[in-house]
Amino acid sequence: MSARIIDGNALAQTVRNEVALRVRRLADRGVQTGLAVILVGDNPASAVYVRNKVKDCEEVGMVSTLDRLPADTSEATLLARIAALNANPQVHGILVQLPLPAHIDEHRVIEAISPAKDADGFHVSNVGLLMTGKPLFRPCTPYGVMKMLEHAGTPLEGAHAVVIGRSNIVGKPQALMLLAAGATVTICHSRTRDLASHTRRADVIVAAVGKAALLTADMVKPGATVIDVGMNRGADGKLCGDVDYAGVSQVAGAITPVPGGVGPMTRAMLLVNTIEAAERCVA
Ligand code: GUN
Repeated sequence: MSARIIDGNALAQTVRNEVALRVRRLADRGVQTGLAVILVGDNPASAVYVRNKVKDCEEVGMVSTLDRLPADTSEATLLARIAALNANPQVHGILVQLPLPAHIDEHRVIEAISPAKDADGFHVSNVGLLMTGKPLFRPCTPYGVMKMLEHAGTPLEGAHAVVIGRSNIVGKPQALMLLAAGATVTICHSRTRDLASHTRRADVIVAAVGKAALLTADMVKPGATVIDVGMNRGADGKLCGDVDYAGVSQVAGAITPVPGGVGPMTRAMLLVNTIEAAERCVA
């Protein structure tokens, strides 16, 4: 059997088209939706991510600003920049690209962003709202995964979902969102003993560890939905996820590819968070 492919590029385009419509509706009411992006330092991967995020904003008609700050920017300078963006009514969403240089306290920076403009959903206030079932901003990657599961028609109510990964950006919020959707959730991670004993019982697997070929065909129940959040370079230098795609796609019922799976959806959900923030300002 060969799994159905959940096409992240196509779904992300649909999401962007819907956002573009909402951006135009707000513009008709005199509001230009704005996202401010800050990049500190010259991490090449971050530079690519940020460039793509700005490009997405242009496509849907949002105004985006990009602050490229040097690697030796002080924490105080960065906090002052965030304070200015918090106070600017033309900015509805703020994103500080992570990771930050080691001399800057990431937690302090995230907490300096106004929770009402926290387009990443990383502020403790937004984490708490998600935890208590009243989300304002949902972190973009797990939010995109939920959209993909919905689009694929994967039933979640009563299903067993296994999340592999426990990061604040993906694993933990993913588990909360699956739980809210009625799934029974197991959180596994790099230290989990006998990972296969958990994944083999799963109806849904979300792999988000950052280790190529972590999930192989023998670890997957036939017909399960497999979502690959991983972004790794294989031995051949090619981009690959955490899932052995060739093998697992013979067993799974539905699967996301890398590239062209979760990545484009993460970017699309940032636009959704930003338009939602702008709409809340005029509500
Ligand atoms: N670095 C890797 N992923 C992300 C993300 O989703 N948001 C931000 N701000 N930085 C990241």
